[in-house]
Amino acid sequence: MKNINQIDIKKIKSPGGSLSFFEKGKEIDFNIKRIYYIYEFSKENRRGFHAHKDLKQVMWCPYGAIEIDFTDGKDITKYILDDPTKILVVNQGYWREFVSLKENSILCVGASDIYSEDDYIRDYDKYLEWVEESYNDEDTV
Ligand code: TYD
Repeated sequence: MKNINQIDIKKIKSPGGSLSFFEKGKEIDFNIKRIYYIYEFSKENRRGFHAHKDLKQVMWCPYGAIEIDFTDGKDITKYILDDPTKILVVNQGYWREFVSLKENSILCVGASDIYSEDDYIRDYDKYLEWVEESYNDEDTV
């Protein structure tokens, strides 16, 4: 999708383990003000079901495998984070749903702002209205 980028980041291997990293000005173009993570992620239950009006995020899966389905109200694109060297840089405006493909997967998220419920759209019909308005105002999505 236009404003979602899956990037393969570097892996520095040593006998003691592997290390990966990403940085502002390289893979991401925003400051991270909040980090949260979803863990004890059950395979049965989908999560997400919301969009963010302004929040930008970077997502990575340090353990396990997670499928993330994004839509802009028209097309659906599936991404799979199944390796710690894959990150997903997600601009604002996409409806998303997550599913864990492996028991105990962990999803980490770096977000451009602190938590604000006002930034969420949690109703899909309202999301479609918001997309319509946004397209009329500017090319938000
Ligand atoms: P939510 O973003 O809806 O999780 P998911 O999309 O994975 O289902 O958040 C779940 C709950 O946690 C919701 O009540 C809001 C709360 N929450 C915070 O208080 N702070 C945060 O930084 C986040 C991400 C969620």
